[in-house]
Amino acid sequence: MGSYKLKIEGGRKLEGETYVSGGKNTAVAVIPAVLLCDEPCEIDNLPDIEDVRVLIDILKELGAQVEYDAERRHIAIDPRGVTQCRVSSEQSQRMRASYYFLGALLGRFGEAQVGYPGGCNIGSRPVDQHLKAFEALGAADLSDTEYLHVKGELKPGRRVVFDKITVGGTMNAMLAAARIPGKTVLYNTAREPHIVDLANFLSSMGATVVGAGTNTIRITGCPKLHHSSYTIIPDQIETGTLMIAAAATHGIVTICGCIPTHMEALSCKLLEMGVMVDEEDDRITIRPARKRYRAVNIKTEEYPGFPTDLQQPISMLLTTCEGCSKIEETIFSNRFRQLNEVEKMGAQVLVNGQLAMINGVEKLHGATLEATDLRAGAALVIAGLMSEGTTLITNTEYIERGYEHIEEKLRILGAVISRV
Ligand code: EPZ
Repeated sequence: MGSYKLKIEGGRKLEGETYVSGGKNTAVAVIPAVLLCDEPCEIDNLPDIEDVRVLIDILKELGAQVEYDAERRHIAIDPRGVTQCRVSSEQSQRMRASYYFLGALLGRFGEAQVGYPGGCNIGSRPVDQHLKAFEALGAADLSDTEYLHVKGELKPGRRVVFDKITVGGTMNAMLAAARIPGKTVLYNTAREPHIVDLANFLSSMGATVVGAGTNTIRITGCPKLHHSSYTIIPDQIETGTLMIAAAATHGIVTICGCIPTHMEALSCKLLEMGVMVDEEDDRITIRPARKRYRAVNIKTEEYPGFPTDLQQPISMLLTTCEGCSKIEETIFSNRFRQLNEVEKMGAQVLVNGQLAMINGVEKLHGATLEATDLRAGAALVIAGLMSEGTTLITNTEYIERGYEHIEEKLRILGAVISRV
């Protein structure tokens, strides 16, 4: 795992059809959510990625019985053997989403102790809003320098008002509230598709969740949650990454099994640049409509705005556009590291804090690049595909965390990409 480099011979058009895997950011919340259930659950369409394997290790360590079939993208989890509410620091640091064990274990046992989460270094990533939500629900914050620790009987009838829109904080509060016998209302919530998916999963186990996808979520918990067999939604960010990769190589690619309405912010930007985006029920076809695309300005925002997770991939496409593009990153403070790397390929970039200016050049040339985080890694793969010559990407373990078999998918579309 991760001990190889990716080698890309650039300049080939991607052509053909590809399929999107299940959503990473849904999977990483739905798996811990099973701990809230009093019966076994089954989940389908799980992406075969490293983050899922880490979560399975944690579930097993907690005492759950897990049967995972990576080939069928299926998992059966029996949480009845779980009696402890502590996730070791070592395990927690293996990924960001380990923080969802806080909400799930607190909701199940009235106590959760989880080491500080790891994950991508994309700027400061506090969890104050998660803790604020747990306290509003009735828990005490007993965290120390090593462990996040919350404890207390959660009470019905509470309101949580987030000071800042947070995906993780919203999902964690939903998890904690799912077994409270009575109503909880969450205000100023995030609206990402994975929040709706988690709400649907909690509802399928017997909680009542209303308003997910808006900025107010009302949850009527159920102290005994029952078996569910649930299929998670396709990955919005993988869909977007493939759309951008197709556009970057000027090929014609159909991305199947996706949800086009989740992609509107990206589709609109691609259209503005001169990329044709044809949407059908569950597929999107990308076609180039110009030899050189037009420069555009991008500002990242919470859903339904332009997703920060696609800012890094699309920034590569902007390096060869006609004119000067501006990117404003408003969600994370350190999410332009891919731009330092792409400068080695001849891109003209100026970064000033949360702003990046990209002056389009005609072509990029191959180089040896370092993936600094998950989406930066995907961005560099796109840069390699669109450039002339050979690109080598190191630190590929970042990419494996969140993209299912990315090089196989690209190879089927005609990319010359291999592990070395
Ligand atoms: C989730 O991170 C995703 N991670 C990220 O995906 C994604 O970039 C992000 O949401 C935004 O969409 C997972 O789902 C595991 P936030 P999260 O809480 O939950 C601040 C990827 O590449 N904030 O919405 O950490 C925070 O610092 C990853 O797939 C607080 O101030 O994001 C940030 O500026 C990377 N206090 C902003 O809010 C808090 O308590 C949004 O963060 C929580 C967050």
